Amino acid sequence: MKTLLIVYHTGGVKTARMAQAVERGAKTEPGVRVVVKRCADAGAEDVLAADGLILGTPENFGYMSGMMKDFLERIFYACEGKVAGRPWALFVGAGQDGTGAVSSVERIVTGLRLKKAADPVIVVKDLQPVQIAALEELGATFASGLALGVL
Ligand SMILES: Cc1cc2nc3c(=O)[nH]c(=O)nc-3n(C[C@H](O)[C@H](O)[C@H](O)COP(=O)(O)O)c2cc1C
Repeated sequence: MKTLLIVYHTGGVKTARMAQAVERGAKTEPGVRVVVKRCADAGAEDVLAADGLILGTPENFGYMSGMMKDFLERIFYACEGKVAGRPWALFVGAGQDGTGAVSSVERIVTGLRLKKAADPVIVVKDLQPVQIAALEELGATFASGLALGVL
């Protein structure tokens, strides 16, 4: 069975609610084991054990959150060269922008040679039902792609 790892940070509640929506969507695919961890609790062993990775972060000061950067710093060298080609995706909670968080994560993940499986989902301001649906769709599409081996 394939494993999908969702790693996120929240400084409040929004990105956690976004992660829950992605998880709900992913769990509609019975052929995939879904593991959800906060950045502080996740490490290289989780990433190495996963067939696909979805990251979630707020945008803080035009960048990914410090906790997401800490997570990526801790896993980078342990995973470099071992996860190339595995699919990944990203969701970002932002107040007014979100693009700085996207580009900062993409730059680092490019170094791991992961394969982008979907466009990033950015939620600016409050989380609306249509965005929750988009996040559930991200999780469901990613998980079914993993199960089918097409990502
Ligand atoms: C210290 C700090 C810096 C922030 N910087 C940005 C920013 O650069 N761009 C932006 O769009 N939102 C920014 N925000 C707003 C957060 O990204 C937004 O409120 C987000 O939804 C918070 O998610 P969370 O509740 O999961 O922590 C900032 C918030 C904080 C607390």
